[in-house]
Amino acid sequence: MYAVRLASEIDFEGWRQAARRLRLADIEPPQVVWRVGEEAGLFDGAEPPPPPPDTGFSAPRAFVELAQGVILHRDPARFELLYRLLWRLKAEPELMAVATDADVAAAQLMRKQVRDAEHKMHAFLRFRRVDEPDDPEAVETYVAWFEPAHHIVERGVDFFVHRMANLRFSILTPEVCAHWNGTLSFSPGVDGSQAPPEDALEEDWRVYFASIFNPARVNAELMAQHMPRRYWKNMPEARLIPELVSRAKGRTEAMVQAPPTVPSARVRRKAAPAEVPVAPGDAPADLTQVAAALQACRRCDLWRDATQGVPGEGPGDAPLMFVGEQPGDMEDLKGRPFIGPAGQLFNRALAEAGVPREAAYVTNAVKHFKHEPRGKRRIHAKPNAGEVKACRWWLETERTLVKPKVIVALGATAGLSVFGRSVAVTRERGVMGEVEGGALGFLTVHPSFLLRLPDEASKAAEFERFVRDLGEAYALM
Ligand code: URA
Repeated sequence: MYAVRLASEIDFEGWRQAARRLRLADIEPPQVVWRVGEEAGLFDGAEPPPPPPDTGFSAPRAFVELAQGVILHRDPARFELLYRLLWRLKAEPELMAVATDADVAAAQLMRKQVRDAEHKMHAFLRFRRVDEPDDPEAVETYVAWFEPAHHIVERGVDFFVHRMANLRFSILTPEVCAHWNGTLSFSPGVDGSQAPPEDALEEDWRVYFASIFNPARVNAELMAQHMPRRYWKNMPEARLIPELVSRAKGRTEAMVQAPPTVPSARVRRKAAPAEVPVAPGDAPADLTQVAAALQACRRCDLWRDATQGVPGEGPGDAPLMFVGEQPGDMEDLKGRPFIGPAGQLFNRALAEAGVPREAAYVTNAVKHFKHEPRGKRRIHAKPNAGEVKACRWWLETERTLVKPKVIVALGATAGLSVFGRSVAVTRERGVMGEVEGGALGFLTVHPSFLLRLPDEASKAAEFERFVRDLGEAYALM
């Protein structure tokens, strides 16, 4: 029997060195026990024979990445599972691709649970201010108490360091505490009695949460899945949840009965054009004229219920053009494309694909917000083919002025406008060939398709695919 003693629960390097030596000495997995403790020395008792000097040995990258995540799991069997996988990889080099294999599946599940725990730390950890806010000498200092499901504090703290680099903070947990004051350090864990008391921001959190809480979207089961109760006690807003949920049904009914909101007079006044620079039907000479002339558009009826026409945005000579469907609620109020939830997801995907949004021209196939009132909300309605056709004149005008090299249609409505025919996004996704005016056309999904996907796994997979598409379109330039 061989006993390996790792320096800590997350001692990946120690595990790797021991596993390597054991594997090279052909020590079978049942002959190894894995322990964590401080009396270190990699091997307790018998040591495996040293490897022959020229033995080459490397585990596939997919395995190493998986192992780095799995090691952070709380299950004590993880070290053994990883060694078993490493052992098997010699005879089964393609093992990591066999998702149905029990060991591979168990390891992947552990990695997923670790990732979820890290995500929950980012989402549910709440800092409380502990310095004296009225003291001008005091350095802003925050403390949070958190009970992570796995050993993720050392890895998860980077997220906060990036966001709070200029402040001081500590994250206290039962196993380890992380401290940032310009440099990062760790100390042993503490118990919950050290958790910081409520601070003055607490009430602000609750007011904010109550104001964004949408009773029509309550699904208590889903909510408990995403925000497990174990995290509630550290979250000021969680105290409101039972009451808000119990009142949700009544509030939803009231919302349905209420008359729709109309954009305020101030928003409408601001959106109204001072003067229209070109006669209807005359082609605007530049993008500023497009934006002004759009406000007088009567090519279809959508202008009647919209606050304003939303023109494209971006450099007048951008080599890359993105075309969405139509402005949403927020775009309608602000007069700018892709700034609401779909726009934020779009920005995130662009950033991951390395595509600078500010270098692209971003616009829509339809320039006015088509919607139906539902209670207090204005619900997106899909533009029909006649509306898309009527609005195509504006897209052509923008295309003629900007002269992009590549045009990316986001979703089927954009596809209809850009390619002049119905497209099947799933089947035709990718490069579409030359479009009118000489640009290269590219078809992909609309970001709100990703927002509507029901589960996290397909969301993540589709997001990655979308990022790949954006990168591919960018490379075409
Ligand atoms: N969806 C779109 O297609 N365009 C926008 O501008 C916003 C959401």
